[in-house]
Amino acid sequence: MRYFFIIYALLAVLVVSIGGFRGEKFKQTPIRIFPDMDEQDRIDPQEGSDFFHDGLGARQPVQSTLPQGLEPADLADENTKTFTNDNSYYHTGMFDENVFGNGLPVEELGLNEENLPAFIKRGKVAFNSNCAICHGVSGNGKGVVASYGVPGVFNLIDSTLPDGGMYDVIVNGRGNMAAFGYQIDVKDRWAIIAYLRALQYARKAPLEQVKDAYEASAAK
Ligand code: HEC
Repeated sequence: MRYFFIIYALLAVLVVSIGGFRGEKFKQTPIRIFPDMDEQDRIDPQEGSDFFHDGLGARQPVQSTLPQGLEPADLADENTKTFTNDNSYYHTGMFDENVFGNGLPVEELGLNEENLPAFIKRGKVAFNSNCAICHGVSGNGKGVVASYGVPGVFNLIDSTLPDGGMYDVIVNGRGNMAAFGYQIDVKDRWAIIAYLRALQYARKAPLEQVKDAYEASAAK
């Protein structure tokens, strides 16, 4: 067995010394043991393309669609191709630079008492499909992934972050948690936070606050 490891180590050194040092310039055709996707059928930034009738490689956004997380610069112009992402609380979770705010941006989300339950349900769908795998369906940090040994998955029921802080974690990620800014649009991020608050409330609300509702549902 020992010889096997020695031969294995020598072979590894050999492979690395032949294949690994590729940094110098030379004129001969290189020996390509690892092609590293050197040649790709792709269009670089600013490059033209014969494929499209206008000769441009980069495409304009499809009419009436929005890039994820951005808003049209001019709401009145349906065909606008300019999109912005301002520094508002709605887009950053911060009131000032580096100060996380608390509360949902009710106005931007167009929330009222009637549509709030639907909004929270929307958050539930987004939470269950994006977050529950790690944080668990109840948010307790015991999702499927955690049971396979990913350490430190946070119990969101105990989270003391303000809403803006949660928003920031969703957009930019933290530690072992990836950023979700590209997958989840602005409205759904806030919906997830609303749902998380509902989950926390379901576990932690003081008895007096939920007593009536509990008794009413138990009597049914
Ligand atoms: C890959 C597993 C994974 C997924 C998926 C995931 N998280 Fe996390 N999350 C973590 C881990 C791990 C931490 C702890 C990060 C740290 O601080 O090191 C964390 C931390 C957090 C925190 C910070 C809690 C606090 O009080 O500090 C929030 C909020 C959070 N996650 C929300 C979400 C939401 C919302 C989603 C879905 C959009 C999500 N997470 C998806 C693994 C995950």
